[in-house]
Amino acid sequence: MIRARIIGTGSAVPDRVLTNFDLEKMVDTSDEWITTRTGIKERRIAAEGEYTSTFAALAARRALEMAGVPAVDVDLIIVGTLSPDFPFPSTACLVQSELKATRATAFDLSAACSGFVYALSVAEKFIGSGAMRRALVIGAEVMSRTVDWTDRNTCLLFGDGAGAVLLEVCDDGRGVQSTHLHSDGSYWELLYQAGCGSRNPAVQKTLDEQLVYLTMQGNEVFKLAVRAMEEAALEALQANGCSTTDIGLFIPHQANRRIIDAIGKRLGLADHQLFVNLERYGNTSAASIPIALDEAHRAGRIRDNDIVLFDAFGGGLTWGSALIRW
Ligand code: UT7
Repeated sequence: MIRARIIGTGSAVPDRVLTNFDLEKMVDTSDEWITTRTGIKERRIAAEGEYTSTFAALAARRALEMAGVPAVDVDLIIVGTLSPDFPFPSTACLVQSELKATRATAFDLSAACSGFVYALSVAEKFIGSGAMRRALVIGAEVMSRTVDWTDRNTCLLFGDGAGAVLLEVCDDGRGVQSTHLHSDGSYWELLYQAGCGSRNPAVQKTLDEQLVYLTMQGNEVFKLAVRAMEEAALEALQANGCSTTDIGLFIPHQANRRIIDAIGKRLGLADHQLFVNLERYGNTSAASIPIALDEAHRAGRIRDNDIVLFDAFGGGLTWGSALIRW
């Protein structure tokens, strides 16, 4: 059976670190509140002149370097993002141009924080069908330009950066074993950005009414995230005839330490099965899983034939899983 295997990983984050103590000087909050309620200690913030495509292209370049594959051999580039450089062209096209991946088809995919797992699912279908041989799948965000820096409910949660994987066709049983994607649009208002699309275009009125920023009903999202992510993980395990003890590494979307711990507990995961780097990056939306994957991989946390399970959740609402045999 033809599958898509991850043969390279990469990530890139801005140099600038914004700590909880920095935030104490900006909004009415405390390191103690942020740490206990979210698990986040610091996040990375893009500098002037750095965009979503900046980090996406760098992460992709690192994934290509790890695999030893030239950019011209890439057939497909998909960027999962909610903070693209422009409404159009796609950030994927900007990455293609930057990498000189001249043969690739490139497009963005909009599934908020689930964007990477959604994009991975699409790419592995292209490869599994035999239509394409190599795909770059990237999750990339500059969340710091979607939040209101005077709103303590949101500004301290998010961070910037990108992660990428290079997929290649494979027939030895390894690679992506399954993906399961879910959406429930009836909850769209729980987590969204009202401007600057066609409903609230980028005009002065939108700015005056503070409609440009991301808003979230955190409590509601929290409860739905725990349930949906647990179900998505169990669905993936069941589809592959696996149990939780078979998981080599579980890489959940990094939104809140309490969400991750609740899922880990419900699934009965041991600490060594769970990868968390939220404390250093905050919630990087679609970039969170591929950044975590790259760190785990480079740290030697994943061995050949390990089962790696991605579990995503985000605005839409969207959620889903991908189970990989490494
Ligand atoms: O990536 C997509 C998915 N996103 C998520 O999964 C995020 C899910 N939600 C969350 O992570 C959490 O709901 C938050 C971290 C956003 C909020 O945590 P919470 O425990 O749900 O807090 P809360 O909103 O219920 O607020 C609790 C208290 C309130 O005070 P009272 O009413 O109890 O007196 C807030 O006013 O904490 C207060 N509060 C703050 N205090 C200090 C809210 N934000 C802050 C803050 N600093 N930044």
